Amino acid sequence: MSISQSITENSRFSDTVLSWYDCHARDLPWRANQYPDCSQKIDPYLIWVSEVMLQQTTVTTVIPYFKAFIKTWPTIFDLAKANEDSIYSMWAGLGYYSRAKNLAQCAKIIVENHGGHFPKSARELKQLPGIGIYTSAAIAAIAFQEIVTVVDANVERVISRVFAIEKPLRETKKEVYSFAERLTSKRRPGDYAQGMMDLGATICKPRKPRCLECPIQKMCLAYRKEITAIIPKKLKRQSKLIRYGSAYVAIKDKSIILVKRPAKGLLSNMLCPPTFGWFNNETDKGPPFKSDWLRLPQTLTHSFTHFDLHLTIYRTSVRKVPRKFKAFELSPNLTQSLPSLSKKILKFALPE
Ligand code: ADE
Repeated sequence: MSISQSITENSRFSDTVLSWYDCHARDLPWRANQYPDCSQKIDPYLIWVSEVMLQQTTVTTVIPYFKAFIKTWPTIFDLAKANEDSIYSMWAGLGYYSRAKNLAQCAKIIVENHGGHFPKSARELKQLPGIGIYTSAAIAAIAFQEIVTVVDANVERVISRVFAIEKPLRETKKEVYSFAERLTSKRRPGDYAQGMMDLGATICKPRKPRCLECPIQKMCLAYRKEITAIIPKKLKRQSKLIRYGSAYVAIKDKSIILVKRPAKGLLSNMLCPPTFGWFNNETDKGPPFKSDWLRLPQTLTHSFTHFDLHLTIYRTSVRKVPRKFKAFELSPNLTQSLPSLSKKILKFALPE
């Protein structure tokens, strides 16, 4: 029997991860042991909100957002009734704003079509807006104990190392998933999924893994072969695409003209000073309205996942807000509700 076969053959691997998780689980506010009344009941609503927030975002960033979100909308019924703009405001700074729109839509569907109860299987969950393969599996395993395999970037790294898979992840995703499937705990699939994620985040870290503290060190082929550091294989970083555009900051007394971005695409539904050029490579149409625009001497750069944005910033003061535009007073609440790019543009353009 090959070593890989012996690892996947029985439940020793998942049992070891579970014992480790029982002692070392991170204290995260969506976990059952963290509920204010200390009840052990798992609330699928909390699991869903946390998993959507955790798509593309780190645990540390998510925690304060999650707490504020649940305080404002403690149940799916509260969220289904919420004003969508208030959800977008709460989301400001988390990025990937289509997630907020999907949450709002999904809450309405669950209340209207499912009586406020989440479907229990990954297959049904995947039909809902914003819930893909990973999120449906995570909710089904954690909230409903469905035996499904949950594979995020942390789990991919752990599995690639345990089985010493040396090719770049891009080429081995299917193989990694199939190993992960064979290891999944049938006894406690939700805890096992979270145990694997915690293990990846705290022990089997991308750089400087803490192999000496690792509960599965003895089952890890990469450790045995001393190749942990080169798995998963890193590909040469492609240089990032650069996009160019302009942003127009118009000041009316203590207010600023902001526009709501389109419902589809980057920064969807969020407030931003009028910008051109960068979003869909449209040609710069020039200022959104006639005024005495001053071009600021330096450009502003902002990094999105797939490109770096270089914006030329223009500033003006207006006596009257032009038709079809709206000025917003920059109260702390409003500023807080803006996405990072808008905050950055305003900081860049406005005197301190
Ligand atoms: N990352 C995404 N979901 C997670 C979870 N439930 N526990 C730990 N890390 C996670």
